[in-house]
Amino acid sequence: KLESDRLAAISISLSEVAHYIKNLLQGMKGGMYFIDLGLKRGDLDTTRKGWEVLQKGNRKIASLVENMLSYSREMPLNLDKQNINSIIYDILHQIDDSAVERKIALIPETTRDLPPVLIDADRIYDALLNLITNAIDAIAEDRTDGYVLVRTRLDETKSFVEIEIKDNGGGIPVDAQNKIFNLFFSTKGARGSGIGLSVTRKIIELHKGKIRFETTLGEGTSFFVQLPAKAE
Ligand SMILES: Nc1ncnc2c1ncn2[C@@H]1O[C@H](COP(=O)(O)OP(=O)(O)OP(=O)(O)O)[C@@H](O)[C@H]1O
Ligand SMILES: [Mg+2]
Repeated sequence: KLESDRLAAISISLSEVAHYIKNLLQGMKGGMYFIDLGLKRGDLDTTRKGWEVLQKGNRKIASLVENMLSYSREMPLNLDKQNINSIIYDILHQIDDSAVERKIALIPETTRDLPPVLIDADRIYDALLNLITNAIDAIAEDRTDGYVLVRTRLDETKSFVEIEIKDNGGGIPVDAQNKIFNLFFSTKGARGSGIGLSVTRKIIELHKGKIRFETTLGEGTSFFVQLPAKAE
């Protein structure tokens, strides 16, 4: 595929973005109403309630804009030969505390002596972090037997380094399976903006890699990322 085809394929629909922002603005208008009311009545609780709504809306728009920039920019890659395992250990280290708090085991199963990959380490870090965060989110809050396994291996043709992110969460319902990579598709309500997988897929594709998943409802999901292996 031509580079231009690829960029066209992931271009953002303006109406989708407008719709999302419109909803956020609507929510913030509600917050302003409470602030107004609270100020008129000298009621600090009502004012604070409105203030919190405004703050949250502001955060969501800020994160939207940040994500949109990394999503829509032509994104020149800063390529370097990297060992994928060390990036994975960095990520697991970063999220270890929050996983412990959620009683979720993070299990690395890395293969030693993998060939390096030619990647933009920051971008691949973001892409894999998105997948691991999703895996953690997929595990119900009250469970104590949840795990996220991160495996690396060389594929059979020895031309790709493969990273598998496997969770034992709820799985992806059939009717959602063809939507999860869509921009703004999320089943997480206020906690998700549905940007993660769109950005992740774009990053992987810019590296001439591949991403796919396998899922079983009630058993869990595996995402597989393949990145071209580079001769040492
Ligand atoms: N490992 C998984 N298990 C079950 N469902 C998943 C998994 N990964 C993704 N999904 C589904 O795909 C949807 C889209 O994921 P995506 O990362 O794009 O958005 P999000 O996580 O909802 O929000 P954001 O990443 O922007 O904070 C999720 O809302 C969820 O329904
Ligand atoms: Mg996500």
